[in-house]
Order: sequence, then structure tokens, then C-alpha cells
Amino acid sequence: MSHSRLIVAIDGPASSGKGTVGMLLAETLGCLFVDTGAMYRALAVLAEQKGVNVENQDGLGQLAQECQIRFLKTDPQDKWAYRVLIDEQDVTEEIRTPQIDMASSRISAYPNVHASMVEKQRGLARVSGVVMEGRDIGTVVLPDADVKFYITAAVHERARRRYLQMKSWGGDVDMEQLESQMRQRDRDDSRREVAPLRQAENAIVIDTTKLSIEEVLKEILDKLPADT
Ligand code: DC
Repeated sequence: MSHSRLIVAIDGPASSGKGTVGMLLAETLGCLFVDTGAMYRALAVLAEQKGVNVENQDGLGQLAQECQIRFLKTDPQDKWAYRVLIDEQDVTEEIRTPQIDMASSRISAYPNVHASMVEKQRGLARVSGVVMEGRDIGTVVLPDADVKFYITAAVHERARRRYLQMKSWGGDVDMEQLESQMRQRDRDDSRREVAPLRQAENAIVIDTTKLSIEEVLKEILDKLPADT
């Protein structure tokens, strides 16, 4: 199969490296990259702006159904690899705060919100080849993906990466608080009833705790079906 037509599912916990490696993989294959976490984050930002409370499941479900989310490729000078637009509003910066970390995790557990997002995600994957990353891509969104990866790492290492990332974005963050929030989010994302974070049965597992991004990318490329 042509690599640019491959459907690749990447799942794993927060800051496991799946986003960075997924983006590089999409660039290498010449296909679309979809960060599904950014979609839940964008919705959380929109809800906050519109005064829809995180407890308001009906209101959130309606917003999820009605909103339009797009990803824009950026110039190399941009500090963001891609920009996230919800209803044409650029929320790239706003979605990366610790508050939105927790709110997006919370709202993604609502069945009505989840159903609307899955529909949008499947729509994006229908267009051509795609590398899609999230929590439930191999298990729920794209169960027939050509290849599935589950990317993980020790929680302390993931918190360290997130800390460095947030610092580089100019954020003021506390490492210990970040690690405890990450543990909480791992628990919430894994224990919820709707599409919990879980490894698909046929997923290839990669533990990135001691690997560089280049090493992870190489492992992934080595495991892809032959390019034809
Ligand atoms: O990958 P992330 O940290 O940007 O995701 C933010 C939240 O969105 C995460 O805590 C759980 C939720 N999420 C989800 O439920 N399903 C996905 N496919 C992606 C993210």
C-alpha cells in the first residue's frame, strides 16, 4: 500500500511523545496529521468563552455537534507546528493551559460530546491517508486502521517533558503539580466508561521513556507495512 494512503492510529497517555512523533510521521509519509486531543481542548475553550459550564453535558453536546474544527499548517517561523481553529477562531495558544488539560479530559468523557467528535474525526480520515493520534483512535475511532501504535512512557518522564514544553511556550508551571495532575488525568482517561484510554489488541507498543523522538520515529517506520 502507498504510504501516503496509510491510515495510522496512535494512542497513548498525555505527553508520551505521540503528538511529536505522529506529526513527524505524517510529514515523512506526506499525509494529514490529526491531533484529536486538540479538538476536545478547542471545544473546552469555546465552552468557557460561551459560559457553558463543564458540568453542562447537554450544552456541551450541542456545542460539539454544531462547532467546526480545522487544523492549519504553519510556516516554519511559527512557534506552533499547526494552528487549531474552532468556528474560524484561532485557539492554538488558549488550548495549552493546565486548566484546559483538565477541562478537556472532563468533557471528553460525555457520550454526546464523544459521539460528535468521533464523527468529525472519521470524516477527516475519509479524505485520504492520515496519522491520527489520541486515546481511542485504534479502539473506537478507526478500528480498521492499517497500523496501530500505543506510545507510552513513565509518568515522571511525561511530566518532565510537559514541564519543558510549557516553559518553552512561556508558561509559568510547577513540576510537582503538573505530575500530580497528569496522574489524575491518566486515571480519569483510563477509568471512564466512554472509550477509555486502552491499548488496541493489535497495537504495537512502544515505551519512549528512554528513547529520543528520532529513535521512536525509526521504530515506527520500521514497523509500517511495505510501501508499494
Ligand atoms: O492528548 P491531549 O492531552 O491533548 O488530550 C486532551 C484530553 O482530551 C485528554 O485528557 C482526553 C481527551 N481525549 C479523548 O478523550 N480522546 C481522544 N482521542 C483524545 C483526547
